[in-house]
Amino acid sequence: MTLSTAPAPLPVEPPSGCPFDPPAALGALRTEQPISKISLPDGSWAWLATRYADIRAILGDTRFSSDTTVHGYPLSGMTGGANTDNRGFIRRDPPEHTRLRRMVTREFMVKRVEALRPEIQRITDELCDAMERRAGQDVDLVEELALPVPSLVISLLLGVPYDDHAIFQRLTGTLLSRTVPDDERETARLELRDYLDRLVTAKEADPGDDILGRLIVEQQRTGEITHDEVAAFAALLLIAGHETTANMIGLSALTLMRDEESAERLRQEPALIRGAVEELLRFHSIIRNGPRRVATADIEIDGHLVRAGEGVVVAVASANRDESVFADADRLDVCRPNAQHHVAFGYGIHQCLGQALARVELQVVIGTLLRRFPTLRPAVPLEKIPFRTDMSIYGCHALPVTW
Ligand code: HEM
Repeated sequence: MTLSTAPAPLPVEPPSGCPFDPPAALGALRTEQPISKISLPDGSWAWLATRYADIRAILGDTRFSSDTTVHGYPLSGMTGGANTDNRGFIRRDPPEHTRLRRMVTREFMVKRVEALRPEIQRITDELCDAMERRAGQDVDLVEELALPVPSLVISLLLGVPYDDHAIFQRLTGTLLSRTVPDDERETARLELRDYLDRLVTAKEADPGDDILGRLIVEQQRTGEITHDEVAAFAALLLIAGHETTANMIGLSALTLMRDEESAERLRQEPALIRGAVEELLRFHSIIRNGPRRVATADIEIDGHLVRAGEGVVVAVASANRDESVFADADRLDVCRPNAQHHVAFGYGIHQCLGQALARVELQVVIGTLLRRFPTLRPAVPLEKIPFRTDMSIYGCHALPVTW
């Protein structure tokens, strides 16, 4: 591949060969030009980091800001741009980020999430029962299992009526699409804002024993946060809490259906599933357009001076295929000893708040599928599976299966 010096857009080319691999251009950059420049939808440019060590250095350095309102932040042209009104703490810096994140940290701690495991298993079993009843019919694993599990779980935790899932799934889908026009995305953003506004108003009257209810009682009523800030928590957790894990479930199931040896190994030794989930997270690295930062000081990264006000896009999908950290990185090895060192959940102060929850959901769903559907296989050839090359979170739009 020829590397040009003129910034080109972030590589998102459709997969050629193995649909599980990140764009080949990222691999070429990692070896030949690990810190390069890309062009952005608004005509400006940003740095692109592709190596594991550089990416950890950037994400671990709080002089790189996550605040979309800081001049020079590399906007992807998605999720409503730099709007400030419903910016969750993912797009804020300390001390605001610390203050807000701390309000929900305990809800997602490992111990708390582990206590949810039986409930997550129950939800998964019920959905699998329903799937079993449809044996012989067309079954889309995304629709029947991968989306509903995280969607039901996050709705339950937040206290969002699950009957509304069609609304927030549709709006989230529009917000996370790379291809919808700006006006359509803006309409979806406003619709989601109105929906959450009504939801928070209803919960203010009747808070309930859930995350939003506790935020209202413990933080909003004491004056620490406003109605709009509760709505911003809801938006962030709802969006981050279902799309990501859903796509990991779909991709993981597909990978194991195509790798009978690994699947059989996990069936024989279910204790290996925890490690396998780390490897699947590393291998798939579903966040394909970031994370993103803007420098607030002049900072040298691998011999390049990143000046204050310049944007940086870090390709975690590329970091997780870095051969200097993961031997034979393009191969899925469900017993890889250092898979847990992946940066699929990011790194530093913004590292994924929901990672313990995502891990338990993945462990439960994958374990259950392997156990209950040992003959599960794709119902269509790989070329017919609609991969999400049009979305910022990679995965499959649909996954027809049979058994
Ligand atoms: C496989 C599933 C998931 C993946 C791959 C994933 C990935 C990520 C990544 C890469 C970040 C860092 C963003 C940055 O540095 O700017 C992040 C942050 C975050 N994630 Fe996840 N996530 C997943 C599941 C979840 C779930 C289930 C939740 C549940 C609520 C969640 C909530 C969040 C939140 C709130 C943040 C912002 C943290 C902060 O800014 O302090 N994520 N996630």
